[in-house]
Amino acid sequence: MYHADEKGYYGEFGGAFIPEMLYPNVEELRQKYLDVMYEESFKKEFNQLLKDYVGRPSPLYFAKRLSEKHGCKIYLKREDLNHTGAHKVNNTIGQILMAQKLGKTRIIAETGAGQHGVATATVCALMGMECIVYMGEIDIARQAPNVARMKMLGAKVRPAFSGSRTLKDATNEAIRDWINNPVDTHYIIGSAIGPHPYPDMVTRFQSVISEEIKWQLKEKEGRENPDYVVACIGGGSNAAGTYYHFLDEPEVGIIAVEAAGKGVETGESAATSALGKVGIIHGCKTMLMQTADGQITEPYSISAGLDYPGVGPMHSHLHKSGRAEFYSATDDEAMTAGLELSQLEGIIPAIETGHAFAIFDHKKFKPDDVVVISLSGRGDKDLNTYIDYFGLK
Ligand SMILES: Cc1ncc(COP(=O)(O)O)c(C=O)c1O
Repeated sequence: MYHADEKGYYGEFGGAFIPEMLYPNVEELRQKYLDVMYEESFKKEFNQLLKDYVGRPSPLYFAKRLSEKHGCKIYLKREDLNHTGAHKVNNTIGQILMAQKLGKTRIIAETGAGQHGVATATVCALMGMECIVYMGEIDIARQAPNVARMKMLGAKVRPAFSGSRTLKDATNEAIRDWINNPVDTHYIIGSAIGPHPYPDMVTRFQSVISEEIKWQLKEKEGRENPDYVVACIGGGSNAAGTYYHFLDEPEVGIIAVEAAGKGVETGESAATSALGKVGIIHGCKTMLMQTADGQITEPYSISAGLDYPGVGPMHSHLHKSGRAEFYSATDDEAMTAGLELSQLEGIIPAIETGHAFAIFDHKKFKPDDVVVISLSGRGDKDLNTYIDYFGLK
């Protein structure tokens, strides 16, 4: 009910809305992705790299001081400790192996926060493949450390100058490149978005997060299921991976936190569930921020990775069906939550991740509630933004 059907639909959302030129590429992937993912040799290589290269399993850490502060039992799923500093690498490892199986030699990607760009550049270096990353001009400036990392890893970073010069515009450029290079190129999409089979494929690669939470929580609490799982949502890949093995467990509450930017009603926001209507973006039918005549609204968030006018189709369905609770956190709430985590637990989160921790401004949990939060990434890339915001110089 909450998983993609064979045409890639989650309820009314999903599908593959693509230009004719991309049809052979997407169709080949659709026909082969599940067979490849279930091949023993593929599973073995994927799991080996997750273990020895990424450093999985990532710890499930009981955050004692944060728990005391917020009056419930808070566990952090430490995706920030993965090689390259975020959950994104789980997916890029899977997709680079998939690209090799499909005989592709050139890799393109889009990136907002630069974490997906770095994770893609990393696996391309690992496999000796050409890598081109599209990134909005604004994001190139605000995520400069990640741009430098991509270049160091041998990738070409190409700026997107259109629209709000952020993630949506970088995705447009990547799709344009793909249309022009349909034979040799694989597009590593970095979130649970895009035409089928991408949302399902990315979700499956990221589902290792909830697979691990289950046995780790069993060890620590004597039960596999928490009362709540919480994640921030840009396109929705860390959330999809964190929710995956709990979707059909009704006793587990699912919580999504989007970026409200300067406030949901200010016109400078990326809170898709509050502001969006059904539309088509980047190849799938989903909730989308748009004007009355269907033009996409330019989104805004202080965090480059949540600065996107849509959410993945799984999340639109989770919202519409009521399976998940959706909240949105402002820039100020996310930054303050990031500072709180730094000073209570000694962990500086990515600003994207700070949004998930702002849940405590919006929801009160009971003392016995076990709440697992996806700590999707580390904040090294955001230090300058934190320093400027809090006047730490
Ligand atoms: C650390 C971190 N968390 C979350 C996100 C949002 O992406 P997604 O919703 O696909 O997890 C990003 C995107 O760049 C990110 O870098």
